[in-house]
Amino acid sequence: MTSEYLWWQDGTVYQIYPRSFQDSNGDGVGDLNGIRQRLDYLQGLGVDAIWLSPIYPSPMYDFGYDISDYVDIDPVFGTLAEFDQLVAEAHARGIRVVLDMVFNHTSHLHPWFLDSRSGRDNARRDWYLWRDPGPDGGPPNNWESTFGGKGWEYDAGTGQYYYHQFLKEQPDLNWRNPEVRAKLMEVLRFWLDRGVDGFRFDVVMSFFKDELYRDNPPALTGPTALLRAFDRQQHLYDRDRPEMTDVLAEMRALIDEVPGRAAVGEVDDLDMALRFVGPDRLHLAFNFDFLLTRWLPRLFMEAIQRYDGKLPAEAWPSYVLGNHDRDRLATRFGAGPFSDARAKVAAALLLTQRGTPFIYYGDELGMVNTPLSRDEILDPPGKLYWPLYQGRDPVRTPMQWSADAYAGFSANSPWLRVHPDYANRNVAAHEADPASVLNAYKALLAMRRSSPALRRGTTRFLVKRPVEGLAYLREAPEQTLLVALNFFGWAVDLRLDGPLPANHWKLRYSTASTDVPRIMGNRMRLQPFEAVILEPV
Ligand code: GLC
Repeated sequence: MTSEYLWWQDGTVYQIYPRSFQDSNGDGVGDLNGIRQRLDYLQGLGVDAIWLSPIYPSPMYDFGYDISDYVDIDPVFGTLAEFDQLVAEAHARGIRVVLDMVFNHTSHLHPWFLDSRSGRDNARRDWYLWRDPGPDGGPPNNWESTFGGKGWEYDAGTGQYYYHQFLKEQPDLNWRNPEVRAKLMEVLRFWLDRGVDGFRFDVVMSFFKDELYRDNPPALTGPTALLRAFDRQQHLYDRDRPEMTDVLAEMRALIDEVPGRAAVGEVDDLDMALRFVGPDRLHLAFNFDFLLTRWLPRLFMEAIQRYDGKLPAEAWPSYVLGNHDRDRLATRFGAGPFSDARAKVAAALLLTQRGTPFIYYGDELGMVNTPLSRDEILDPPGKLYWPLYQGRDPVRTPMQWSADAYAGFSANSPWLRVHPDYANRNVAAHEADPASVLNAYKALLAMRRSSPALRRGTTRFLVKRPVEGLAYLREAPEQTLLVALNFFGWAVDLRLDGPLPANHWKLRYSTASTDVPRIMGNRMRLQPFEAVILEPV
């Protein structure tokens, strides 16, 4: 493995939800010029790349994940010229730009779909997944929509059903059609030629469905099986089909035409990641295990070991603690008086792993879910499942920049309400407070960037059955670092598996102390919620 600094491997990626980052024109929705105005902040934070959730023309049924034109910018976000300017100014600061590509489906208002549904003999009929009704006149098979309800929508005009894995306003493309495939490759080329550094492929595991459209078998259990019929099936036939291998190779070859570009795929779990990452596949696949892990050190250790153990040497891991689909990490791990202390330990956990960290905007402030009432909810699954599930709006509220009106996000009332804690939780306040979550992120990001051990070193756990906290060595040929994390609000004596030499370490970082922890034999004393990084002297 090369030791050259690669942004997608050694660096950190910061996810921006453009509607909510910075509004520059006062319409209450964030935009490209707003992001451009905040590039200095991102540079100061120390991230290597920004991934923008979709910015293309869209009727916004799924807030941009329903694209009606792949090669333009939605006017709410700006123009192509403003995009070019954003890319140029990001690059000038050493920040790469990664675009979200939604290739599983389009908007139902995309001209391709309008053509496709206009008649059975339309030249684009086969660009989407059309089937005759089942024998009873109902849907052709039992596939469900991820967002609730059946995966099939009947089109009275042409007497057939079309398949949509998400909303009925998001019809799935037919990847078996060579014209579709060629068109989407052209889309990639269009953006690569404009200078983007990579892509995040939305639900990349779903492009191909079973050619025979077989029914999915039932699943015995599922975490949310009571709520969603989707979770009461094993998804054998509506995703993750072998035909994908060849498409991955084609996308990879195109992206690699210019060295230094990379793509990350959204997949469901580790087993899928194994099929989607590799020299002829994608550079990275999201690892969502940290999103599903409760605040218990043993579970995090096992998640890390699972990845390290299964991913082949040529595949590089990733770690995700937050994104636009899941509860804010500070909420998941327990909102309340200690949520900031926990958020700093979580930051240290994320930023000291062997694997590319993905940071969701606002997590560097310890932002928590914004409580919204039923009539404030805009996200379709939230509307459907309220109050059992509120959807994703609570994690998509405006970035909190300052104590000014609307948190400095906009001059006018934003599309989603600002969290009421913004007067204290904002970038300006956090910059002024040395103990803030933001300053923890900055320190950890700077350390990761300058540390070969944190970037590439192997991981060796020092506590075999962790209860209160984790301790691990990150070991690279040039450097060794020791990381120790106390997950709880009381001082603990971590019991290491073997003795560590005392008085042999210097403090590189601590969230809670200015001293090296007391090490006596195989015990290391950590302060409440202390995350500490030590280096041998
Ligand atoms: C992905 C996105 C999610 C979107 C869905 C449909 O899961 O992360 O936000 O709603 O795909 O495109």
